[in-house]
Amino acid sequence: MNLLVNIDHVATLRNARGEGYPVPAEAAKVCEEAGADGIVFHLRGDRRHIVDDDVEALKKTVKGTLDFEMAATDEMLGILKKTNPDLCTLVPEGREELTTEGGLNMSVVFDDFQKRVFPSIRETDIKISLFLDPNPEDINMAFELGADAIELHTGTFANAASDDIKVEELKRLKKAAIQIHQLGMKVNAGHGLNLDNLPVFLDVVPHLNEVSIGHALISKSLFWGLPKTVSAYLEIISIYQDVK
Ligand code: PXP
Repeated sequence: MNLLVNIDHVATLRNARGEGYPVPAEAAKVCEEAGADGIVFHLRGDRRHIVDDDVEALKKTVKGTLDFEMAATDEMLGILKKTNPDLCTLVPEGREELTTEGGLNMSVVFDDFQKRVFPSIRETDIKISLFLDPNPEDINMAFELGADAIELHTGTFANAASDDIKVEELKRLKKAAIQIHQLGMKVNAGHGLNLDNLPVFLDVVPHLNEVSIGHALISKSLFWGLPKTVSAYLEIISIYQDVK
C-alpha cells in the first residue's frame, strides 16, 4: 500500500501572506525523501491553494506517483494533458465548499464522462481514478466507464459524530473495497484520515492500493517536521501491511 501526501495546504500557508514560501514542490521533495510513495495536489478552478506554477514545479520535482486531483472541466483537462502526471483523480468541486465534500454522483456525470472526459484522457497514458462514496451503484457505473481506480471517500467515516455511524460507514467502505477489487479496479482512499483513525480504517478495509492524506499530515508537521510525520504514517501502513 502506498502513501501519497497531499501538499495543498503548504500552498494555503504560502497564500495566506502572499509570500513565496513555503514552497509546495519543496515539501513534496522532503516527503518523498522521507519515504512517501508520491504526491497529490488539487488544482482548483479558483486557485485557492495550488496555482499553475506549482503544477509545473511538482511535475519537475516528484519522482514517485504524481496524482493530479481535479474537477473535470475543459480547462483542467487541458492542464492535465500538458502536465502528464501518472494519475488523475476526478472529484466534484463546489465553489462555496471548504474542501471536497463527497464523492462524484455517477448518475449525474456518467454521460458527460463517457462522451467528453474519458475519451479526452484516454488519448494519454494517464490513469483515471474516480472519487466516490462507497455506493455499489456508483462503483458499477465507474467500472462501466472503464476507470482504472476508485478513490473511496473516507470523510464520512473520519468525521462521524458517533461510534455507531463510524462502524456503519466502515462496513460500507469494506464492502465497497471488496466490490472494487473484484471488478479489477485499484482501491484508493482518502479524506480526513489522520494518525488516530488510520489504524482503525486499515484494520477493517482490505485491498488498499493507496491512501491520500493531506490536512492532518501537514498540520502535524508544523510540530513534528515533515520527515518525522511522514515516517509516523508509513509506520502505521507497514504494520497493517505486514498483518494482512
Ligand atoms: N482525496 C481527495 C479526493 C480530496 O479531495 C482530499 C482533500 O483535498 C484528500 C484526499 C485529502 O484529504 P485530507 O486533506 O482531509 O487528508
